[in-house]
Amino acid sequence: MPRQLFVTTALPYANGNFHIGHIMEYIQADIWVRYQRMMGNTVHFVCADDAHGAPIMIAAEKAGKTPQQFVADIAAGRKPYLDGFHIGFDNWHSTDGVENHELAQAIYRDLRANELITTRVIAQFFDPQKNMFLPDRFIKGECPKCGAKDQYGDNCEMCGAVYSPTELKNPYSALSGATPVLRDSEHYFFKLSDPRCVAFLEKWTQGSNAQGRAHLQSEVYNKIKEWLLPDENGKRDLGDWDISRDAPYFGIEIPDAPGKYFYVWLDAPIGYLASLKNYLGKIGVDYDQFMADPATEQYHFIGKDIITFHTLFWPVTLHFSGRKTPNAVFVHGFLTVNSEKMSKSRGTGLDPLKYLSLGMNPEWLRYYLAAKLNARNEDVEFSPEDFMARVNADLVGKYINIASRAAGFIAKRFDGKLGAITADGAELLTLLRAAQTGIEELYEDREYAKALRETMLLADRVNGYVDANKPWELAKQTGMEARLHDVCTVCIEAFAVLTAYLKPVLPALAAQVETFLNIAPLAFGSGSQALGTGHRIGEYKHLMQRVDIKQLEALFEAPAAPEPEKLLPGGEEIAPTIGIDDFAKIDLRIARIVNCEAVEGSSKLLRLTLDAGEEKTRNVFSGIASAYKPEQLIGKLTVLVANLAPRKMKFGISEGMVLAASHADEKANPGIYVLEPSAGAQPGMRVR
Ligand code: MSP
Ligand code: ZN
Repeated sequence: MPRQLFVTTALPYANGNFHIGHIMEYIQADIWVRYQRMMGNTVHFVCADDAHGAPIMIAAEKAGKTPQQFVADIAAGRKPYLDGFHIGFDNWHSTDGVENHELAQAIYRDLRANELITTRVIAQFFDPQKNMFLPDRFIKGECPKCGAKDQYGDNCEMCGAVYSPTELKNPYSALSGATPVLRDSEHYFFKLSDPRCVAFLEKWTQGSNAQGRAHLQSEVYNKIKEWLLPDENGKRDLGDWDISRDAPYFGIEIPDAPGKYFYVWLDAPIGYLASLKNYLGKIGVDYDQFMADPATEQYHFIGKDIITFHTLFWPVTLHFSGRKTPNAVFVHGFLTVNSEKMSKSRGTGLDPLKYLSLGMNPEWLRYYLAAKLNARNEDVEFSPEDFMARVNADLVGKYINIASRAAGFIAKRFDGKLGAITADGAELLTLLRAAQTGIEELYEDREYAKALRETMLLADRVNGYVDANKPWELAKQTGMEARLHDVCTVCIEAFAVLTAYLKPVLPALAAQVETFLNIAPLAFGSGSQALGTGHRIGEYKHLMQRVDIKQLEALFEAPAAPEPEKLLPGGEEIAPTIGIDDFAKIDLRIARIVNCEAVEGSSKLLRLTLDAGEEKTRNVFSGIASAYKPEQLIGKLTVLVANLAPRKMKFGISEGMVLAASHADEKANPGIYVLEPSAGAQPGMRVR
């Protein structure tokens, strides 16, 4: 019986573009979904923008947009990332969609009917200028522990202290600068401390699904049991959950509570259901029926920073509103790039769109990340050297190579047709095919690194077979046609098997291979079929380039700072820096202009006779006729470049050059100004 799955990734906040951490999560989930589909299972793979909350409302206001417009603009930028990395969500929706409003309110009503909602009046900081209650992140002040200034309302970045905003000294609103005042407000709470909730969570978090697999990874359970289990005094950390916020708030209104909205984390995971419902509506499947079907399995891929929301609050919300709980929550670690921790808002130096725009193959990244991902929530490090090595040595060097070594012979020597396989080749292929079930299980368990390692070990076996049989030598020998055909056929059959094993990770490449091999889409679930003797393959085109180090250099090159608009002095940039030694090479001398005359046949030049304190005067031509009449210059002192090589000109030899100032653009800024030393300088003195 094919399985029926509903798979999500975390809903990204709609206040920024994707960073590479998001892309890693989507790739991890996408590989799993593709594997499931190769098994013949039905999968609905959905996501949405997490649109609500105070930070987005405030960001929208700053941008001069309505929150709706603001999140719509963010949503409009999602597609190039998703398409670019072959992430095949069936649907992309928004938590501000109508389905989510309806579902969140319905779920709330069910919880209330179950007596799990209560209200309590709490005192909170209120910004009297902005007329709103301030979220913790928007209250700043001095740390109550160490006194550091400008700390956020929830924790101190200097000493690490955790406190509540009301403990800050000299608090101020980060929105208006005003001093906040304490004001009472009625808040709505989800009674997580209710014994029913505690009992359910203790069981669920340690439980297993109908497929016999744990709801949670063991390291995830170990993390949350600190919250869940009572300490030595019988006290639990899990208190009631404040699920309301006061207007103004961008969110979903709480039924029968005017001016109150759901806290964003209440409606965000409900957005999973809303996106599914929206999608099923499009394909004509009844949502209620689908969710009521006991065969439906529900899985969420998330990062380790949002564990409590997904393993405590979310299952309890679903269970006590009479809904299906997740079959499992899959938690991954954080991606670091060049060992740098990523900032939630800024991401890292690895910009996904820049990666694509440099023409880097998206499947290199998919392969590399898959080669590092396992079922635990360990962090994953992107290292450029490692990336290049894995892609070039393993993916291209071991796998792609197999096809490129065999396909040419099949095309040229055997009319594109596969031949018969003898015992040693058959044995190799049996070994390859026997690995399939194990590899399927590794994908099922999200042990992608192991699945790829297994596959590459198999590729090693195939390459060993090629090296032992040397088709390029068989091709030169007479009477070895049949063996050459045999060996190349084994390679092509092996390549098909390996391609199936890599297909969840490399969907575009696999599609190219299917075309090249002229075969139906490769699948899992039953033993792989041989292409068979006589099968005609298509023309081999190079399947994948190697990573070029220049691409990686460009990827991590800091973006060029925008050129400040420069006022160029004198119309041109200052020449490159020189040392004093360079300057010393130029021998500048004071010279007296003892004679000056026009040059017949030239409107530009004047002929100068210069006394630079030497035995003889010098003859120098200078292009200053447009600015000076000869008689204006006679008798004046000026500066001569005395060691400039003599130059033969149409009118005679020029034995140096006199210095004059002008603008680079002489047409727009006419004027030539011959240099003249201050009084007292004598011919022959050096200028330095
Ligand atoms: N909006 C919430 C999730 C609501 S789910 C109902 C949120 N958004 S987020 O944009 O900050 O993060 C979305 C996902 O990206 C989370 O699963 C988060 O763990 C993941 N990642 C954020 N930075 C990451 C890395 N550096 N590496 C891997 N995943 C990371 O949280
Ligand atoms: Zn502090």
